[in-house]
Amino acid sequence: MNIIRVHGGHAIEGDVHVSGAKNSALKLMAATLLAPGTTTLTNVPNISDVHVMGKVLKGLGATIEVADEHTLIIDTSAVDSWEAPYELVAKMRASTAVMGPLLGRFNRAKIAMPGGCNLGARKIDMHILGLEALGVQFDTDHGYIHANAPEGLTGTMVSLEFASVGATENLIMAAVRAQGTTTIDNAAREPEIVDLANMLNEMGAKVSGAGTPVVTVEGVEELHPVVHQVIGDRIEAGTFIVAGALAAGDRGVAVTGFNPQHLGMVLKKLELMGVSYERVNGGVRVWRAEHLRPVDIQTLPFPGFPTDMQAQVMVLSALADGNSIITENIFENRFMFASELVRMGANIRIESHHAIIHGVERLSGAQVVSPDLRGGAALVLAGLVAEGETDVSAIHHINRGYERFVDKLTGLGAQVERASIPDPLED
Ligand code: EPZ
Repeated sequence: MNIIRVHGGHAIEGDVHVSGAKNSALKLMAATLLAPGTTTLTNVPNISDVHVMGKVLKGLGATIEVADEHTLIIDTSAVDSWEAPYELVAKMRASTAVMGPLLGRFNRAKIAMPGGCNLGARKIDMHILGLEALGVQFDTDHGYIHANAPEGLTGTMVSLEFASVGATENLIMAAVRAQGTTTIDNAAREPEIVDLANMLNEMGAKVSGAGTPVVTVEGVEELHPVVHQVIGDRIEAGTFIVAGALAAGDRGVAVTGFNPQHLGMVLKKLELMGVSYERVNGGVRVWRAEHLRPVDIQTLPFPGFPTDMQAQVMVLSALADGNSIITENIFENRFMFASELVRMGANIRIESHHAIIHGVERLSGAQVVSPDLRGGAALVLAGLVAEGETDVSAIHHINRGYERFVDKLTGLGAQVERASIPDPLED
């Protein structure tokens, strides 16, 4: 069994540069389907989710050249299928992001129905309602969603019940090729959506208002391939900023390669907890908080506090001087991480979608299991300050979204290694 082993109690210092954003790169790759020809994406993170999206595109008939570790040259001229198969959608829900582009290109798509995941039901009803308004007819059978727009797509007004990231992205990617204008009200405002809209506009689309609650898309006849750089990963950056707040030495930890404005609410909450940081070129430098204060956090759509930083900040609050409350409003099942942190000595009580965290003096190393991507990374962070050794297993979750996580931590002086131990469940 592959694990990440963390030897706690070592200060970390220096510079770490984050990779491109997973939650943007995946959608940008899907959007290349809209412009037959060769699109080049740079600053693409080398992570397993990107590899899965690559397989989805190849399955549709695209070719992908890996020009270097972070540059993909994607040729979609020969794409002749509109089916995203079960085995890939089951592996990665974000594969459903090809639905909008396929409808934009072929007026049809066949997507395996995405099941739930550790985080919750993860429904796509808002994607479907929005696309139906554009004239798409939906049918489901044998575990597949069949989406068809025999008359083509027609722009209209769509109001989202909740500012869903995925629904906003799929709607934008379909609407760029619709007849007329689409207005998406209560749209998600995440920086990754702005990155997607920027690339689509470089391709010749007419998307305005991305990053605000109202996005307007004027349909166009055709789109052309481009060269586009993926934005830096704000969640990876936030993860390393929390590592610095926990364990930085006197020189601090400089986290670069992202836009600090994409982490506004996180930095505000960290400051309230007593974490000091300064802006540096392309990022921030953070220092260890001598004295952590408790905090109340609600996860909300951007620019609110990102749910993808909830677990990492829970580690900080577990060592704060007092009681913190973290309320998870986005996913119904994102506290599985807490029980693993309790195994390391944290004092946490879960009451429906609230976590009540009573700060403790110290954490102790233990064998823990990653429940999901961000929970896994947060357990490694907890290991940095825990007494003794922490073995984090189920690290395939971490590999999905963190490129060279262990190398980047050891580059800062952390005592962390990848190891292989006998699987306790094996005879
Ligand atoms: C994206 O997921 C991200 N994933 C998630 O990051 C992130 O947590 C989430 O946005 C919120 O910021 C990718 O971009 C690949 P949503 P997405 O549509 O698009 C419910 C990570 O750790 N909902 O905004 O799936 C849904 O079930 C991952 O990197 C419906 O009910 O998020 C969820 O509870 C985890 N019906 C909530 O809304 C719908 O049609 C938010 O979903 C759509 C969503």
